[in-house]
Amino acid sequence: MPHITVNPFDTESIKKIKYGEDRSTEVLFKANDIFSKDELIGIKRENESFLLHLKKSPDTWLLKYDKVTRPLKVNLLKQAIADVSSEIEVEVLQSNIAIHPTKAPLASEYEKNIEDFVDIEFPFESVAIEVGFGSGKHLLYQAQKNPDRLFIGIEIHTPSAAQVLKQIQLLGLVNVWVVNYDARLLLEMIPSNLCHQIFVHFPVPWDKKPHRRVISPSFLEESMRVLEVNGRLELRTDSHKYFWYSMETFLGESVAKTAVEIRKNEALEITSKYEARWLRQEKDIYDVYVTSTEESEARVLDFDFSFKDIIYKKEILDKISYKPELFEGFFVHFERLFKIDDDAILIKLAFGSFDRPEHKYIYLDKSKTYYFNSNPVKTLTNYKTHLKIMEYLNV
Ligand SMILES: C[S@@+](CC[C@H](N)C(=O)[O-])C[C@H]1O[C@@H](n2cnc3c(N)ncnc32)[C@H](O)[C@@H]1O
Repeated sequence: MPHITVNPFDTESIKKIKYGEDRSTEVLFKANDIFSKDELIGIKRENESFLLHLKKSPDTWLLKYDKVTRPLKVNLLKQAIADVSSEIEVEVLQSNIAIHPTKAPLASEYEKNIEDFVDIEFPFESVAIEVGFGSGKHLLYQAQKNPDRLFIGIEIHTPSAAQVLKQIQLLGLVNVWVVNYDARLLLEMIPSNLCHQIFVHFPVPWDKKPHRRVISPSFLEESMRVLEVNGRLELRTDSHKYFWYSMETFLGESVAKTAVEIRKNEALEITSKYEARWLRQEKDIYDVYVTSTEESEARVLDFDFSFKDIIYKKEILDKISYKPELFEGFFVHFERLFKIDDDAILIKLAFGSFDRPEHKYIYLDKSKTYYFNSNPVKTLTNYKTHLKIMEYLNV
């Protein structure tokens, strides 16, 4: 990921102005971490807002991307780092932000953001989802084979998402959307009874951190809601442990009615990169198909994530605690506080459901408060958490 190493400099030189030869990188604010010497720089470029992180070691500083607000287009980040660093005339010791003029930043109509799903149309006969498509081999194969079906690929790893967007362009496919997001959250944005299939092929087993697994009781519940009657959730795994864990989930106490089918070592028409590796090692491969048997209720998505008339007041600083606070079904953890000036702050927090936490920043000044750079996913749990966050900020 793009970054530069620089000699320490006076950060007051980073002003709220437009930077770069074409003046298209705008600095919105600069914020100082109150727990460390690190700083954040709020950037706007090509209608996208994001943060740059200035990480300060005693001798050298690192100017890099911020994980929570990172845009998909890497060139946006590179350009912003290049513009800011050249304008403030800082001494660059090391850099990996060379921008290749021949490689235009990827802007694809097939890349969708989570916010798009609030009112998106699905202009195809049927819809399938692939969770964690990796290299995209299976996703692209399915899309080529079923031109009347829309394939929504959800992948948390940004370089894989960018790579598959390129492939879509090269292959001239029009029935694939790529969403660079956590599939466990995105699924909640999908209308009920829409999908024919949900593929989860070779999910990361997360043996030591089971809360990070894709398959969970709530993922199963959401999958069954999203699938049409007789639609299937298709898990394929080489992990014996994950297979048994999934069986427990699919047949668990909370599941009233279900139809589960198991296959062992079944050959599919297409072999993914991971699968090829396991096949070479002669590992067993398990398929578990869970079929949706009932029509589900429609999904309501009109949660309001605005902060109403909450504005920045000094008293907020005394009210928030930096320990995780647990509530019925959700948590709030104010992680870090960044001071912009006497009248504005940025708060970094994690919150929401325990197995699918959100990570966000909240911007507050004397006239407005909002999530920087996008609202949380519109789930009921996030909405309940948002109301709790408002209680903390309402002083
Ligand atoms: C072991 S790889 C398998 C890739 C591909 N399905 C295959 O068979 O080659 C697992 C993939 O799932 C992605 N992933 C893990 N957790 C995810 C999540 N919560 N949402 C979306 N993608 C996820 C990872 O980034 C990775 O690309």
